[in-house]
Amino acid sequence: MNERDSEGVGALLRSKGYVLVADEAEADIILINTCSIRGLAEEKAIGKADHLLRARREGKGAKFVGILGCMAQNRGAELLERLPDLDLIVGTQRLRHIPDYLSQRLAAPTPVAYVDTAHEEGFEDALPGRDDGRQVSAYVSIQQGCDMKCAYCVVPKTRGPERSRSPESILAEVRALAENGTREVTLLGQIVNQYGRGRFRTEGGISPFVRLLRSVAEVPGIERIRYTACHPIGYRPDLVAAHAEIPQLCAQVHLPFQSGSDKILRAMGRPYLAERIRRLAAALRASRKGMTLSTDVIVGFPGETDADFALTEAMFSEIGFEQAFLFKYSMRPGTPAEPLGDTVPVDVKEARLFRLQQQLAMQSTTGNLRQVGTVQRVLVDGPNRKGGRLAGRTENERRVIFDGDLSLVGQFVDVDIARAGETYLDGKLARTKSI
Ligand code: 5AD
Ligand code: SF4
Repeated sequence: MNERDSEGVGALLRSKGYVLVADEAEADIILINTCSIRGLAEEKAIGKADHLLRARREGKGAKFVGILGCMAQNRGAELLERLPDLDLIVGTQRLRHIPDYLSQRLAAPTPVAYVDTAHEEGFEDALPGRDDGRQVSAYVSIQQGCDMKCAYCVVPKTRGPERSRSPESILAEVRALAENGTREVTLLGQIVNQYGRGRFRTEGGISPFVRLLRSVAEVPGIERIRYTACHPIGYRPDLVAAHAEIPQLCAQVHLPFQSGSDKILRAMGRPYLAERIRRLAAALRASRKGMTLSTDVIVGFPGETDADFALTEAMFSEIGFEQAFLFKYSMRPGTPAEPLGDTVPVDVKEARLFRLQQQLAMQSTTGNLRQVGTVQRVLVDGPNRKGGRLAGRTENERRVIFDGDLSLVGQFVDVDIARAGETYLDGKLARTKSI
């Protein structure tokens, strides 16, 4: 979501005559788009801004430093206590006004920080602009905000109420992308599989989200469709069935279960039981050959005992998630869980996280090794970071490295998988076709 927002701000500024530079050292203006999901994300952004502002006091580096996005929304003018000479603080809803603030601020005789964290009425469309040129893989925002109240989560505070964009406007964007060469779209929202809730109706058991997926799949040129971020309650039978029926939908699903303990799920305000996750995982795996599942887990939520964690661990290995984002609980001020405190000691959180990380390494390695000897259809992203080879992704988001010409970037190729590790597959361009 933040990447998409940054892309939009960049395009907007370019349309006003600003130039994007590849190297931060060349920039006159630096705007830091920020995340608030965990304390560490905020601390990193503050550290970065502090570093830039110190350099500026010594007459070095960028002349203008601003903070955008979730942390700006979350902390607003309070940020000036930590970073008194910041130029700009603009929250998630007001990014489209940045060019105005920039020109006012640049023209002002004395430095004043512009702080805007207002809520924009009717703001459901993402910033329209995007990078120039062909984007093989593109993000398309379909929903803003979130009305769930997961106890640990700051997102409802930073991104405001849930608003879904109209299917017409989404499809127009997808068509334009496809005409410009896009082959893969990722539909974005905080709770994307509940798209349309409160605005469009479920008809004949088919939700607005599944109707949208069907329409996107009909756009000529779109070969892969992904969506993120999801909530388990959004996987109703029509969406599970969509994975069997829509070939463009990738065989990769995110099922963030957070905890395997019903007691902790209740405390987290997650409206499902662990048993439902097991059933959903089985149904999703059955919906599509080669389906892989990923998840999010939080360890050390207040009140999580060894027994609760054992339930999480059991569920994680039983379902055999191939990919996962594993987090230590980070108490966020202003969230419903704040009054519960942060009761699990940090060393206990770390030990639990480590156990899950070890288990994940095993599960992803096993899943990757199973691909050896198969032919995989790979969308080529670009050169691999080292070794003069190419890198791309399978439909399960497995990273594949192989030898090939740079002209293949942006294309689908078939790769014979010869080797695999925890985070990659390694192969060579195939003579046979992928299946
Ligand atoms: N502490 C730790 N992890 C969190 N997440 C959200 N809020 C917190 C928090 N306060 C995790 C959840 C969510 C993912 C995007 O980030 O697992 O699914
Ligand atoms: Fe946060 Fe996702 Fe829960 Fe919304 S559904 S409150 S974004 S964790």
